[in-house]
Amino acid sequence: MSESGSRALGVGLLGVGVVGSAVAEALLSGRSQANVPGSHPLELRVAVVRDLTKERPVPAGLLSDDASSVLSNPAIDIVVELMGGEEPARTSIAAALSAGKHVVTANKEALAKHGGELIALAEQNGVRLLYEASVGGGIPIIGPLSSDLLANEVKSIRAIINGTTNYILTRMSNEGDTFDDVLADAQALGYAEADPTADVDGYDAMYKIAILARLAFRAPVELDSIYREGIRSIDPVDISNAARMGFTIKLLAVARDDGRGLLVRVHPALVPNEVPMAKVDGVLNVCEIEGDLVGPLWLQGRGAGAEATASAVMGDLIRIARAPGSQTRPRGLSATTERLAMDDHVCQYYTRLVVQDQPGVLAGVAGVLGNRRISIDSVIQMDSDSGRGVADIVLMTHPAREQEMQAAITELTALESVVEVASLLRVEDYPDPS
Ligand code: NAP
Ligand code: HSE
Repeated sequence: MSESGSRALGVGLLGVGVVGSAVAEALLSGRSQANVPGSHPLELRVAVVRDLTKERPVPAGLLSDDASSVLSNPAIDIVVELMGGEEPARTSIAAALSAGKHVVTANKEALAKHGGELIALAEQNGVRLLYEASVGGGIPIIGPLSSDLLANEVKSIRAIINGTTNYILTRMSNEGDTFDDVLADAQALGYAEADPTADVDGYDAMYKIAILARLAFRAPVELDSIYREGIRSIDPVDISNAARMGFTIKLLAVARDDGRGLLVRVHPALVPNEVPMAKVDGVLNVCEIEGDLVGPLWLQGRGAGAEATASAVMGDLIRIARAPGSQTRPRGLSATTERLAMDDHVCQYYTRLVVQDQPGVLAGVAGVLGNRRISIDSVIQMDSDSGRGVADIVLMTHPAREQEMQAAITELTALESVVEVASLLRVEDYPDPS
Protein backbone atom coordinates (compact mmCIF):
# COMPACT_ATOMS: atom_id res chain seq x y z
CA MET A 1 0.00 0.00 0.00
CA SER A 2 1.21 3.53 -0.73
CA GLU A 3 0.99 6.47 1.67
CA SER A 4 -2.28 7.45 -0.03
CA GLY A 5 -3.60 3.95 0.61
CA SER A 6 -3.73 2.94 -3.07
CA ARG A 7 -2.33 -0.48 -3.88
CA ALA A 8 0.89 -0.29 -5.91
CA LEU A 9 0.61 -1.76 -9.42
CA GLY A 10 3.43 -4.09 -10.42
CA VAL A 11 5.05 -3.30 -13.76
CA GLY A 12 6.99 -5.85 -15.81
CA LEU A 13 9.21 -4.54 -18.60
CA LEU A 14 9.90 -6.67 -21.66
CA GLY A 15 12.96 -4.99 -23.16
CA VAL A 16 15.42 -2.53 -21.67
CA GLY A 17 16.95 -1.02 -24.81
CA VAL A 18 16.77 2.60 -26.01
CA VAL A 19 13.16 3.19 -24.93
CA GLY A 20 13.00 0.58 -22.14
CA SER A 21 15.97 2.18 -20.36
CA ALA A 22 14.30 5.61 -20.34
CA VAL A 23 11.02 4.08 -19.12
CA ALA A 24 12.86 2.15 -16.37
CA GLU A 25 14.56 5.36 -15.24
CA ALA A 26 11.23 7.23 -15.14
CA LEU A 27 9.60 4.44 -13.14
CA LEU A 28 12.51 4.07 -10.71
CA SER A 29 12.60 7.82 -10.11
CA GLY A 30 8.92 7.77 -9.07
CA ARG A 31 7.98 10.30 -11.73
CA SER A 32 4.38 9.04 -12.03
CA GLN A 33 3.69 9.25 -8.28
CA ALA A 34 5.18 12.74 -8.13
CA ASN A 35 3.19 13.97 -11.15
CA VAL A 36 -0.15 12.33 -10.41
CA PRO A 37 -0.75 12.20 -6.66
CA GLY A 38 -3.60 9.95 -5.60
CA SER A 39 -3.23 7.45 -8.45
CA HIS A 40 -1.95 3.92 -7.87
CA PRO A 41 1.84 3.99 -7.50
CA LEU A 42 3.68 2.15 -10.27
CA GLU A 43 6.41 -0.23 -9.16
CA LEU A 44 8.95 -1.75 -11.55
CA ARG A 45 9.19 -5.37 -10.38
CA VAL A 46 10.86 -7.30 -13.23
CA ALA A 47 12.73 -6.25 -16.38
CA VAL A 48 13.41 -8.85 -19.07
CA VAL A 49 16.30 -8.67 -21.55
CA ARG A 50 18.17 -11.14 -23.75
CA ASP A 51 21.67 -10.39 -22.55
CA LEU A 52 22.09 -10.16 -18.78
CA THR A 53 25.72 -9.03 -19.03
CA LYS A 54 24.93 -5.62 -20.62
CA GLU A 55 24.96 -2.47 -18.47
CA ARG A 56 21.36 -1.33 -17.63
CA PRO A 57 19.84 1.45 -15.52
CA VAL A 58 17.98 -1.24 -13.54
CA PRO A 59 19.10 -2.93 -10.28
CA ALA A 60 20.52 -6.38 -11.09
CA GLY A 61 17.98 -8.02 -8.76
CA LEU A 62 15.12 -6.92 -11.03
CA LEU A 63 16.67 -8.26 -14.25
CA SER A 64 15.75 -11.57 -15.85
CA ASP A 65 16.23 -13.24 -19.21
CA ASP A 66 13.04 -15.24 -18.83
CA ALA A 67 9.82 -13.64 -20.15
CA SER A 68 7.67 -15.93 -18.00
CA SER A 69 9.00 -14.07 -14.95
CA VAL A 70 6.75 -11.25 -16.16
CA LEU A 71 3.99 -13.05 -18.08
CA SER A 72 3.27 -15.73 -15.43
CA ASN A 73 4.00 -13.56 -12.42
CA PRO A 74 0.90 -12.70 -10.30
CA ALA A 75 2.78 -9.66 -8.91
CA ILE A 76 2.77 -8.05 -12.38
CA ASP A 77 -0.37 -6.03 -13.20
CA ILE A 78 0.93 -4.19 -16.26
CA VAL A 79 3.26 -5.51 -18.96
CA VAL A 80 5.24 -2.92 -20.91
CA GLU A 81 6.36 -4.48 -24.19
CA LEU A 82 9.43 -2.67 -25.58
CA MET A 83 11.22 -5.46 -27.44
CA GLY A 84 9.96 -4.42 -30.88
CA GLY A 85 9.38 -6.60 -33.94
CA GLU A 86 6.54 -9.01 -34.66
CA GLU A 87 7.64 -12.00 -32.59
CA PRO A 88 7.95 -12.82 -29.75
CA ALA A 89 6.25 -9.46 -29.07
CA ARG A 90 2.83 -10.43 -30.41
CA THR A 91 2.75 -13.74 -28.51
CA SER A 92 3.91 -12.01 -25.32
CA ILE A 93 1.26 -9.27 -25.62
CA ALA A 94 -1.43 -11.89 -26.25
CA ALA A 95 -0.23 -13.99 -23.27
CA ALA A 96 -0.25 -10.96 -20.98
CA LEU A 97 -3.76 -9.91 -22.02
CA SER A 98 -5.05 -13.47 -21.67
CA ALA A 99 -3.57 -13.58 -18.16
CA GLY A 100 -5.62 -10.47 -17.25
CA LYS A 101 -2.69 -8.03 -17.33
CA HIS A 102 -2.89 -4.57 -18.89
CA VAL A 103 -0.40 -4.00 -21.71
CA VAL A 104 1.40 -0.85 -22.82
CA THR A 105 3.44 -1.14 -26.00
CA ALA A 106 5.39 1.01 -28.48
CA ASN A 107 5.30 -1.74 -31.07
CA LYS A 108 3.84 -0.49 -34.36
CA GLU A 109 4.65 -3.66 -36.28
CA ALA A 110 2.76 -5.96 -33.91
CA LEU A 111 -0.13 -3.46 -33.73
CA ALA A 112 -0.34 -2.89 -37.49
CA LYS A 113 -0.26 -6.61 -38.25
CA HIS A 114 -2.30 -7.96 -35.35
CA GLY A 115 -4.06 -4.93 -33.82
CA GLY A 116 -7.55 -6.27 -34.51
CA GLU A 117 -7.08 -9.55 -32.67
CA LEU A 118 -5.06 -7.99 -29.78
CA ILE A 119 -7.63 -5.22 -29.20
CA ALA A 120 -10.39 -7.87 -29.16
CA LEU A 121 -8.38 -9.96 -26.68
CA ALA A 122 -7.99 -6.97 -24.34
CA GLU A 123 -11.75 -6.39 -24.47
CA GLN A 124 -12.55 -10.06 -23.80
CA ASN A 125 -10.27 -10.03 -20.76
CA GLY A 126 -11.45 -6.69 -19.39
CA VAL A 127 -7.98 -5.13 -19.52
CA ARG A 128 -6.41 -2.25 -21.44
CA LEU A 129 -4.05 -2.32 -24.40
CA LEU A 130 -2.53 1.15 -24.83
CA TYR A 131 -0.10 2.05 -27.59
CA GLU A 132 0.41 5.82 -27.73
CA ALA A 133 4.17 5.41 -28.29
CA SER A 134 3.69 3.25 -31.37
CA VAL A 135 3.13 6.31 -33.62
CA GLY A 136 4.89 9.66 -33.52
CA GLY A 137 7.17 9.00 -30.52
CA GLY A 138 6.27 11.64 -27.95
CA ILE A 139 3.41 13.23 -29.93
CA PRO A 140 -0.03 12.51 -28.44
CA ILE A 141 -1.87 11.18 -31.47
CA ILE A 142 -3.50 7.84 -30.57
CA GLY A 143 -5.20 9.51 -27.57
CA PRO A 144 -6.79 12.33 -29.60
CA LEU A 145 -7.95 9.94 -32.36
CA SER A 146 -9.33 7.46 -29.78
CA SER A 147 -11.21 9.97 -27.67
CA ASP A 148 -10.98 13.76 -28.16
CA LEU A 149 -11.81 13.66 -31.89
CA LEU A 150 -14.49 10.96 -31.76
CA ALA A 151 -17.25 13.33 -32.90
CA ASN A 152 -15.45 14.00 -36.18
CA GLU A 153 -15.54 12.33 -39.55
CA VAL A 154 -11.85 12.40 -40.39
CA LYS A 155 -11.20 13.38 -44.00
CA SER A 156 -7.45 13.02 -44.11
CA ILE A 157 -4.26 12.39 -42.20
CA ARG A 158 -1.02 13.56 -43.75
CA ALA A 159 2.10 12.93 -41.74
CA ILE A 160 5.84 12.74 -41.48
CA ILE A 161 6.01 9.80 -39.08
CA ASN A 162 9.44 8.33 -39.52
CA GLY A 163 12.13 10.28 -37.71
CA THR A 164 15.04 8.40 -39.26
CA THR A 165 14.10 9.15 -42.87
CA ASN A 166 13.21 12.75 -42.05
CA TYR A 167 16.61 13.12 -40.37
CA ILE A 168 18.36 11.55 -43.40
CA LEU A 169 16.49 13.69 -45.95
CA THR A 170 17.11 16.85 -43.91
CA ARG A 171 20.85 16.19 -43.69
CA MET A 172 21.00 15.32 -47.40
CA SER A 173 19.16 18.59 -48.18
CA ASN A 174 21.15 20.85 -45.88
CA GLU A 175 24.61 19.38 -46.23
CA GLY A 176 24.52 17.44 -49.49
CA ASP A 177 25.60 14.32 -47.56
CA THR A 178 25.21 10.86 -49.03
CA PHE A 179 22.41 8.57 -47.92
CA ASP A 180 24.81 5.96 -46.46
CA ASP A 181 26.79 8.43 -44.30
CA VAL A 182 23.66 9.94 -42.78
CA LEU A 183 22.07 6.53 -42.13
CA ALA A 184 25.07 5.51 -40.02
CA ASP A 185 24.64 8.68 -37.90
CA ALA A 186 20.90 8.04 -37.47
CA GLN A 187 21.67 4.55 -36.15
CA ALA A 188 24.34 5.87 -33.78
CA LEU A 189 21.80 8.37 -32.40
CA GLY A 190 19.29 5.58 -31.68
CA TYR A 191 16.66 6.83 -34.16
CA ALA A 192 16.90 4.05 -36.71
CA GLU A 193 15.48 0.61 -36.04
CA ALA A 194 18.05 -2.19 -35.61
CA ASP A 195 17.26 -3.22 -39.18
CA PRO A 196 17.32 0.06 -41.15
CA THR A 197 15.16 -1.52 -43.87
CA ALA A 198 12.12 -0.87 -41.70
CA ASP A 199 12.83 2.86 -41.75
CA VAL A 200 14.38 3.57 -45.14
CA ASP A 201 12.07 1.33 -47.19
CA GLY A 202 8.96 2.84 -45.62
CA TYR A 203 7.75 -0.16 -43.58
CA ASP A 204 7.86 1.75 -40.27
CA ALA A 205 5.79 4.61 -41.72
CA MET A 206 3.43 2.07 -43.31
CA TYR A 207 2.80 0.36 -39.93
CA LYS A 208 2.18 3.74 -38.30
CA ILE A 209 -0.23 5.08 -40.92
CA ALA A 210 -2.09 1.73 -40.82
CA ILE A 211 -2.63 2.23 -37.07
CA LEU A 212 -3.76 5.84 -37.52
CA ALA A 213 -6.00 5.09 -40.51
CA ARG A 214 -7.74 2.25 -38.66
CA LEU A 215 -8.59 4.60 -35.80
CA ALA A 216 -9.47 7.61 -37.93
CA PHE A 217 -11.50 5.92 -40.67
CA ARG A 218 -12.85 3.03 -38.55
CA ALA A 219 -11.65 0.70 -41.27
CA PRO A 220 -9.49 -2.38 -40.99
CA VAL A 221 -6.45 -1.38 -43.03
CA GLU A 222 -4.66 -4.40 -44.47
CA LEU A 223 -0.96 -3.73 -44.97
CA ASP A 224 -1.02 -5.08 -48.50
CA SER A 225 -3.57 -2.42 -49.43
CA ILE A 226 -1.11 0.38 -48.59
CA TYR A 227 1.09 1.78 -51.34
CA ARG A 228 4.68 1.87 -50.02
CA GLU A 229 7.91 3.30 -51.38
CA GLY A 230 11.01 4.27 -49.34
CA ILE A 231 13.84 6.80 -49.75
CA ARG A 232 16.76 4.55 -50.71
CA SER A 233 16.73 5.70 -54.33
CA ILE A 234 16.54 9.44 -53.59
CA ASP A 235 19.54 10.96 -55.29
CA PRO A 236 21.14 14.20 -53.99
CA VAL A 237 20.67 15.50 -57.56
CA ASP A 238 16.89 15.22 -57.17
CA ILE A 239 17.03 16.99 -53.82
CA SER A 240 18.90 19.92 -55.35
CA ASN A 241 16.70 19.97 -58.50
CA ALA A 242 13.60 20.01 -56.31
CA ALA A 243 15.07 22.85 -54.23
CA ARG A 244 15.71 24.89 -57.39
CA MET A 245 12.06 24.36 -58.35
CA GLY A 246 10.80 25.44 -54.89
CA PHE A 247 10.23 22.05 -53.24
CA THR A 248 11.59 19.94 -50.38
CA ILE A 249 11.55 16.14 -50.54
CA LYS A 250 9.84 14.43 -47.55
CA LEU A 251 8.71 10.88 -46.86
CA LEU A 252 4.95 11.31 -46.42
CA ALA A 253 2.39 8.91 -45.02
CA VAL A 254 -1.09 9.84 -46.16
CA ALA A 255 -4.56 8.39 -45.55
CA ARG A 256 -7.32 10.28 -47.32
CA ASP A 257 -10.91 9.65 -48.26
CA ASP A 258 -11.49 12.03 -51.18
CA GLY A 259 -15.10 10.97 -51.66
CA ARG A 260 -14.16 8.23 -54.16
CA GLY A 261 -12.66 6.02 -51.43
CA LEU A 262 -9.87 5.66 -48.89
CA LEU A 263 -6.31 5.60 -50.21
CA VAL A 264 -3.40 4.97 -47.85
CA ARG A 265 0.06 5.63 -49.24
CA VAL A 266 3.67 6.06 -48.09
CA HIS A 267 6.22 7.53 -50.48
CA PRO A 268 8.72 10.36 -50.89
CA ALA A 269 7.07 13.48 -52.24
CA LEU A 270 7.91 17.00 -53.35
CA VAL A 271 6.40 19.36 -50.78
CA PRO A 272 6.13 23.06 -51.74
CA ASN A 273 8.60 25.09 -49.68
CA GLU A 274 5.91 27.54 -48.59
CA VAL A 275 3.83 24.95 -46.67
CA PRO A 276 4.76 24.31 -43.01
CA MET A 277 5.36 20.59 -43.59
CA ALA A 278 8.40 21.41 -45.73
CA LYS A 279 10.05 22.92 -42.66
CA VAL A 280 9.53 19.98 -40.28
CA ASP A 281 13.13 18.88 -40.12
CA GLY A 282 15.41 16.32 -38.51
CA VAL A 283 13.89 13.73 -36.22
CA LEU A 284 10.72 15.79 -35.78
CA ASN A 285 7.42 14.19 -36.78
CA VAL A 286 4.20 15.93 -37.67
CA CYS A 287 0.66 14.77 -38.14
CA GLU A 288 -1.87 16.95 -39.94
CA ILE A 289 -5.44 15.78 -39.35
CA GLU A 290 -8.50 17.19 -41.10
CA GLY A 291 -11.76 16.56 -39.26
CA ASP A 292 -15.18 17.77 -40.42
CA LEU A 293 -15.92 19.54 -37.12
CA VAL A 294 -12.49 20.46 -35.83
CA GLY A 295 -11.00 21.47 -39.21
CA PRO A 296 -7.26 21.17 -39.68
CA LEU A 297 -5.12 20.08 -36.72
CA TRP A 298 -1.34 20.11 -36.56
CA LEU A 299 0.53 17.93 -34.06
CA GLN A 300 4.30 18.22 -34.14
CA GLY A 301 7.03 16.91 -31.88
CA ARG A 302 9.91 14.51 -31.39
CA GLY A 303 8.97 11.33 -33.22
CA ALA A 304 11.79 9.14 -31.96
CA GLY A 305 14.41 8.97 -29.26
CA ALA A 306 14.45 7.52 -25.77
CA GLU A 307 12.92 10.27 -23.67
CA ALA A 308 10.23 11.46 -26.07
CA THR A 309 9.03 7.88 -26.54
CA ALA A 310 9.22 7.23 -22.79
CA SER A 311 6.93 10.24 -22.33
CA ALA A 312 4.22 8.47 -24.34
CA VAL A 313 4.77 5.11 -22.60
CA MET A 314 4.63 6.76 -19.18
CA GLY A 315 1.45 8.62 -20.18
CA ASP A 316 -0.23 5.27 -20.94
CA LEU A 317 1.04 3.77 -17.66
CA ILE A 318 -0.31 6.72 -15.69
CA ARG A 319 -3.67 6.43 -17.47
CA ILE A 320 -3.92 2.88 -16.15
CA ALA A 321 -2.61 3.86 -12.69
CA ARG A 322 -5.34 6.50 -12.39
CA ALA A 323 -8.17 4.10 -13.21
CA PRO A 324 -7.05 0.48 -13.56
CA GLY A 325 -10.65 -0.76 -13.63
CA SER A 326 -11.79 1.34 -16.58
CA GLN A 327 -11.60 0.15 -20.14
CA THR A 328 -11.38 2.14 -23.36
CA ARG A 329 -13.77 0.49 -25.76
CA PRO A 330 -12.33 0.79 -29.24
CA ARG A 331 -14.31 2.72 -31.82
CA GLY A 332 -16.42 0.28 -33.85
CA LEU A 333 -15.17 -0.52 -37.34
CA SER A 334 -17.23 0.27 -40.40
CA ALA A 335 -17.02 -2.33 -43.13
CA THR A 336 -18.39 0.04 -45.76
CA THR A 337 -15.42 2.30 -46.41
CA GLU A 338 -14.71 2.21 -50.16
CA ARG A 339 -11.06 1.78 -51.19
CA LEU A 340 -9.18 3.58 -53.89
CA ALA A 341 -6.27 1.96 -55.75
CA MET A 342 -2.96 3.80 -56.11
CA ASP A 343 -3.53 3.62 -59.90
CA ASP A 344 -6.34 6.15 -59.42
CA HIS A 345 -4.21 8.64 -57.50
CA VAL A 346 -3.88 11.97 -59.30
CA CYS A 347 -0.95 14.36 -58.79
CA GLN A 348 1.80 16.24 -60.56
CA TYR A 349 4.97 14.25 -61.26
CA TYR A 350 8.63 15.18 -61.28
CA THR A 351 10.77 12.93 -63.43
CA ARG A 352 14.46 13.01 -64.33
CA LEU A 353 15.50 11.37 -67.57
CA VAL A 354 19.03 10.72 -68.74
CA VAL A 355 18.80 11.14 -72.52
CA GLN A 356 21.04 11.19 -75.59
CA ASP A 357 22.07 14.82 -76.10
CA GLN A 358 20.85 15.09 -79.70
CA PRO A 359 18.10 16.83 -81.71
CA GLY A 360 14.55 15.44 -81.60
CA VAL A 361 14.85 13.74 -78.21
CA LEU A 362 12.51 16.14 -76.42
CA ALA A 363 9.91 15.77 -79.16
CA GLY A 364 9.94 11.97 -78.66
CA VAL A 365 9.52 12.33 -74.90
CA ALA A 366 6.72 14.89 -75.29
CA GLY A 367 5.02 12.57 -77.80
CA VAL A 368 4.87 9.67 -75.34
CA LEU A 369 3.38 11.89 -72.65
CA GLY A 370 1.00 13.59 -75.08
CA ASN A 371 -0.35 10.25 -76.33
CA ARG A 372 -1.27 9.45 -72.72
CA ARG A 373 -2.85 12.91 -72.30
CA ILE A 374 -0.21 13.90 -69.77
CA SER A 375 0.47 17.57 -70.08
CA ILE A 376 3.93 19.01 -69.36
CA ASP A 377 4.17 21.94 -66.95
CA SER A 378 7.90 22.59 -67.36
CA VAL A 379 11.05 21.06 -68.85
CA ILE A 380 14.57 21.91 -67.78
CA GLN A 381 17.77 20.53 -69.22
CA MET A 382 19.78 20.37 -66.01
CA ASP A 383 23.12 19.05 -67.00
CA SER A 384 24.92 17.63 -69.96
CA ASP A 385 27.88 15.30 -69.96
CA SER A 386 29.45 16.11 -73.33
CA GLY A 387 32.02 13.32 -72.85
CA ARG A 388 29.24 10.69 -72.74
CA GLY A 389 26.91 12.60 -75.06
CA VAL A 390 24.07 12.48 -72.53
CA ALA A 391 22.04 15.08 -70.66
CA ASP A 392 19.70 15.18 -67.65
CA ILE A 393 16.20 16.41 -68.45
CA VAL A 394 13.84 17.24 -65.61
CA LEU A 395 10.13 17.28 -66.43
CA MET A 396 7.30 18.50 -64.27
CA THR A 397 3.86 17.36 -65.41
CA HIS A 398 0.43 18.79 -64.76
CA PRO A 399 -1.78 16.54 -62.60
CA ALA A 400 -2.03 13.08 -64.13
CA ARG A 401 -3.42 9.71 -63.12
CA GLU A 402 -0.86 7.30 -61.62
CA GLN A 403 -1.77 4.49 -64.02
CA GLU A 404 -1.17 6.72 -67.06
CA MET A 405 2.09 8.05 -65.66
CA GLN A 406 3.43 4.57 -64.93
CA ALA A 407 2.49 3.41 -68.42
CA ALA A 408 4.23 6.48 -69.90
CA ILE A 409 7.37 5.73 -67.87
CA THR A 410 7.44 2.19 -69.30
CA GLU A 411 7.17 3.62 -72.81
CA LEU A 412 9.85 6.27 -72.14
CA THR A 413 12.22 3.58 -70.85
CA ALA A 414 11.81 1.75 -74.16
CA LEU A 415 12.80 4.80 -76.27
CA GLU A 416 16.24 4.47 -77.82
CA SER A 417 17.06 8.09 -77.03
CA VAL A 418 16.29 7.61 -73.30
CA VAL A 419 19.28 6.10 -71.51
CA GLU A 420 17.50 5.88 -68.17
CA VAL A 421 14.43 7.12 -66.28
CA ALA A 422 16.53 8.08 -63.27
CA SER A 423 13.71 9.15 -60.97
CA LEU A 424 9.97 9.58 -60.67
CA LEU A 425 8.59 11.50 -57.71
CA ARG A 426 5.09 12.66 -56.84
CA VAL A 427 4.27 16.25 -55.96
CA GLU A 428 2.00 16.46 -52.91
CA ASP A 429 -1.07 18.61 -53.48
CA TYR A 430 -1.76 21.34 -50.92
CA PRO A 431 -4.65 23.78 -51.10
CA ASP A 432 -3.61 27.15 -52.46
CA PRO A 433 -3.03 29.33 -49.35
CA SER A 434 -4.32 32.47 -51.18
P1 NAP B 1 16.07 -1.71 -28.70
O1 NAP B 1 16.96 -0.61 -28.27
O2 NAP B 1 16.55 -2.63 -29.77
O3 NAP B 1 15.70 -2.55 -27.40
C1 NAP B 1 15.03 -3.78 -27.47
C2 NAP B 1 15.11 -4.42 -26.10
O4 NAP B 1 14.33 -5.61 -26.12
C3 NAP B 1 16.53 -4.84 -25.68
O5 NAP B 1 16.70 -4.62 -24.31
C4 NAP B 1 16.55 -6.34 -25.99
O6 NAP B 1 17.40 -7.07 -25.11
C5 NAP B 1 15.12 -6.72 -25.69
N1 NAP B 1 14.69 -7.88 -26.45
C6 NAP B 1 14.59 -8.01 -27.79
N2 NAP B 1 14.15 -9.24 -28.10
C7 NAP B 1 13.97 -9.90 -26.93
C8 NAP B 1 13.53 -11.20 -26.58
N3 NAP B 1 13.21 -12.08 -27.52
N4 NAP B 1 13.47 -11.52 -25.27
C9 NAP B 1 13.81 -10.62 -24.31
N5 NAP B 1 14.23 -9.36 -24.57
C10 NAP B 1 14.30 -9.01 -25.87
O7 NAP B 1 14.67 -1.14 -29.21
P2 NAP B 1 14.02 0.30 -28.90
O8 NAP B 1 14.57 1.28 -29.85
O9 NAP B 1 14.08 0.57 -27.45
O10 NAP B 1 12.52 0.05 -29.37
C11 NAP B 1 11.59 -0.62 -28.55
C12 NAP B 1 10.20 -0.45 -29.13
O11 NAP B 1 9.87 0.93 -29.17
C13 NAP B 1 10.06 -0.93 -30.58
O12 NAP B 1 8.77 -1.45 -30.78
C14 NAP B 1 10.24 0.35 -31.38
O13 NAP B 1 9.64 0.28 -32.65
C15 NAP B 1 9.53 1.31 -30.49
N6 NAP B 1 9.90 2.72 -30.65
C16 NAP B 1 11.21 3.06 -30.62
C17 NAP B 1 11.56 4.40 -30.73
C18 NAP B 1 13.00 4.86 -30.71
O14 NAP B 1 13.23 6.05 -30.88
N7 NAP B 1 13.97 3.97 -30.49
C19 NAP B 1 10.55 5.36 -30.84
C20 NAP B 1 9.21 4.96 -30.86
C21 NAP B 1 8.90 3.62 -30.75
P3 NAP B 1 19.00 -6.91 -25.19
O15 NAP B 1 19.27 -5.50 -24.76
O16 NAP B 1 19.50 -7.90 -24.20
O17 NAP B 1 19.38 -7.18 -26.59
N1 HSE C 1 12.69 4.21 -36.19
C1 HSE C 1 11.55 4.98 -35.85
C2 HSE C 1 11.67 6.34 -36.50
C3 HSE C 1 11.47 5.13 -34.36
O1 HSE C 1 12.72 6.64 -37.04
O2 HSE C 1 10.71 7.11 -36.52
C4 HSE C 1 10.16 5.66 -33.92
O3 HSE C 1 9.14 4.75 -34.12
